[in-house]
Amino acid sequence: MKVTSAEFRISAVGPGQYPEDGLPEIALAGRSNVGKSSLINRMINRKNLARTSSTPGKTQHMNYYLINEKLYLVDFPGYGYAKVSKTQRAAWGRMVEKYLSERETLKLVLLVVDLRHPPSADDKMMFDWLRHYSIPFCVVATKADKIPKTRWPKHIKIMKEALGVLPGDRFLSFSSELGLGKEELWTLIQEAALS
Ligand code: GTP
Ligand code: MG
Repeated sequence: MKVTSAEFRISAVGPGQYPEDGLPEIALAGRSNVGKSSLINRMINRKNLARTSSTPGKTQHMNYYLINEKLYLVDFPGYGYAKVSKTQRAAWGRMVEKYLSERETLKLVLLVVDLRHPPSADDKMMFDWLRHYSIPFCVVATKADKIPKTRWPKHIKIMKEALGVLPGDRFLSFSSELGLGKEELWTLIQEAALS
């Protein structure tokens, strides 16, 4: 897809601040520092519209990015960041759970995982959760540039088995560094946005 416009809309802390224009939303979930914001930047060819950081826990709110004035990419705060307090973690859980279970304009969740490592317990929980609530999802295994391509199949297999990915589930290897998987992901996003 050709991105003709991408703009930051709002950093929402709760439902009262979500956009009310009814446009389809594609949300990105994943553990802190996995590369959600980088993925957004790569998808829209911008270096730093979505703020990235080598310090985990950078994205604290749900950041809405309006693409081509027709859909939103929603950057979630990452989970599993050790330095976040229990209270903050609980608040995060409530916000995300409420959003995922009630948001009618949500069309697809990109579950961003790190292709280099087996999924974390939180990744698995999020995956099971998406499945349980029948939320359309695609597992996006990013940072693929960090391992040689010859080893991808092994890592993909481990990831799929550990998460419980079934035939027919959507799964994509990705690299924000190189732009790998970008076109396939846009195709998925566009299909979901139209559904
Ligand atoms: P939070 O906002 O804390 O939840 O993190 P995030 O998931 O948004 O991660 P972010 O995009 O900020 O990336 C974290 C770090 O990983 C940064 O240093 C990025 O440059 C790096 N990174 C992200 N994606 C890739 C990738 O595909 N390849 C490589 N080599 N590095 C990546
Ligand atoms: Mg981020």
